[in-house]
This record gives sequence, structure tokens and C-alpha cells, in this order.
Amino acid sequence: MKPTALITGAGGLIGGYLFRTAARWVPQWDVCGVTRAEADLTDPAQVQELWRYSRPALVIHCAALSRTGACEQDPALARRINVEATKLLADWARDIPFLFLSTDQVFDGSKGQYVETDPVHPLNVYGQTKAEAEQVVLQNPAHSVVRIALTAGLSPTRDRSFVEDMIEKAAKGTKLTLFTDEFRCPIPAGPLVRALWECAVRSKTGLYHLGGSERLSRWEIGQVLASRFPELRPWIQPGSVADYQDPPRPPDLSMRSDKLQALLSFRLPGFREWLNSEASAGDDPWDHSLL
Ligand SMILES: NC(=O)c1ccc[n+]([C@@H]2O[C@H](COP(=O)([O-])OP(=O)(O)OC[C@H]3O[C@@H](n4cnc5c(N)ncnc54)[C@H](OP(=O)(O)O)[C@@H]3O)[C@@H](O)[C@H]2O)c1
Repeated sequence: MKPTALITGAGGLIGGYLFRTAARWVPQWDVCGVTRAEADLTDPAQVQELWRYSRPALVIHCAALSRTGACEQDPALARRINVEATKLLADWARDIPFLFLSTDQVFDGSKGQYVETDPVHPLNVYGQTKAEAEQVVLQNPAHSVVRIALTAGLSPTRDRSFVEDMIEKAAKGTKLTLFTDEFRCPIPAGPLVRALWECAVRSKTGLYHLGGSERLSRWEIGQVLASRFPELRPWIQPGSVADYQDPPRPPDLSMRSDKLQALLSFRLPGFREWLNSEASAGDDPWDHSLL
């Protein structure tokens, strides 16, 4: 009998890709993907029931309140999902590998090119709850935290990734101001989940960064996307984060992924390189098997 890997948040962007690519990357595992409709992870009784029927040998915990705006609007809910549900799952998983997905938003963006030893200083509720959950998870030396960068992909509900957000806004005729002075290391979902699978099944413990190998401004990201999705072009315009009025935005959340890269069997691509390559020409430009 194969061991079972439990994927939480399987109805979301990254959990969905992990579930769909399992047969390709980890055929030696059975995969149980759980959506919110199947188990509310803030309910201890439902988590206990989930454990009883799935009997996992590995957990990749993707479920989260992942939208920064939703976290600002309801910090108590953000804490319940992002911290308390994570603690509950990590407790159940105390004797097996447990991989928690965190975010570049644990940093304040004042430095950029962040490495795992840099101190965290989140500017928003989302980042605060994720930083708190990281500490909970890392109390168990057999567990791991992977901070991931802005991820491009097609979600089951078609409304989760930043690319889906941009295409939806453009379709509605909304202008998108993309900052020339805000930086990230975006990564396509395909290589991201391949790296997560490698990290998880080899039981790599501790803290890792995982992003694309190219640091790009939001404006550069928009231009790369517009060359692939021309419908975006009329709706994107450059701007400066200095003119942004609302809650503070971390200007440079670029991360270095060298620590994880050294453990992987393939090279993490840059975002521009990926989209310009023939490899992204299939039905889903964010996922392919030809790395
Ligand atoms: N995508 C990115 O660019 C990015 C970047 C950095 C870090 N991350 C992190 O990576 C992880 C996965 O992100 P994602 O983009 O896949 O997020 P996502 O698309 O929002 O998926 C999260 C999933 O968690 C589910 N969920 C929320 N509350 C739940 C609960 N109480 N019980 C059970 N399930 C619940 C959501 O269900 P509903 O659909 O019903 O809400 C959703 O399907 C998250 O931890 C996120 O913080 C993502």
C-alpha cells in the first residue's frame, strides 16, 4: 500500500496544482486533497475526522486566508485560519513530516533579496499571522516552512492568482497601475509545486525560500504578461509605490532561494525566461513537464 500525502487547501491555487501534479512527480504516494467544503480546518472535530479517514504519512498545508485585504478586514478570522488551524494540524502531525506554506510578506520589503536568516517584520495582518504560524511549526524540528513568492497559475475557481486578478480586471475595463519601484520574484505554479513535492517527500526540514530566479518590478511583470496576454496591454500603466495612499506596501519582497535550490533536481526558472520559452506554450502556460 502507498503512503498518503494530505494536501490542505486543495480547492485553492497551489493546493490544486499539488493535487493535479502528484501522479507526475510523486507516483509512489497516494494523495488526499481536502477542500474547505470537505473539512473546515478551524473545527477540531472535523480535523480529527479528517485524520481518521486519511491517515496521512505527510502533510502539505496550503489552506489559508490568503488575501491580504480579507485578513485586514477580519484579523480574528485570519488568526483562526492562518495560526490556530495550522497549530492544530501541526499537533496532529507531530510524528510525521509537515510542510507549511508561508509567504514573502513576513518581511517589510525595506531590504530585498531576503535570505532565511533575515529577521521578519510584517507590515500587514496576513504577514503577521503567517510569521506567527511559522514559529509554531518550527517548534517541531521534523517540520518545515517554505516561504513562497508571488505565484502565477490557473486556480480551480479562476479567481486566485495575481494573473487571474489582472486578466479579470482588464476584462472589466479597470486600469491597472503597476509600480516600477515594487519588486518580487514571481514563479509559475508548475516549477513551484515540483519543488514543493521534492522538498516534502525528501523530508527537508527547517525554513526555506522558494521563488523565481529573477527579481522583477510589478511594471516589468505586467509587461512580460502583456506580451503573452495582449488583452492586458491597454489597461496597464506604470506608477510609483510612493504615490500609494492606503496601508503600507512592502516595496521589495524579492527573496533568494539558493538554500532550497541546492537541494533540488532542477533549476528554478526566472519568470520572464519561463514565459518566453517554448515550454510555456501548452494549455496551461504555468505548468508543463519539460523542465
Ligand atoms: N498564491 C500566492 O501567490 C502565494 C504567495 C505566497 C504565499 N502563499 C501561501 O501559499 C498557500 C496557498 O496559497 P493559494 O494561493 O493556493 O491560496 P488560495 O488559492 O486562497 O487557497 C487557499 C485555500 O484554503 C482554503 N481554506 C480557507 N480557510 C479554510 C478553512 N477554515 N478550512 C479549510 N480550508 C480553508 C480556501 O478555501 P475557500 O476557497 O473556500 O476560501 C482555499 O481553497 C497559502 O498559505 C498562502 O498564504 C501563496
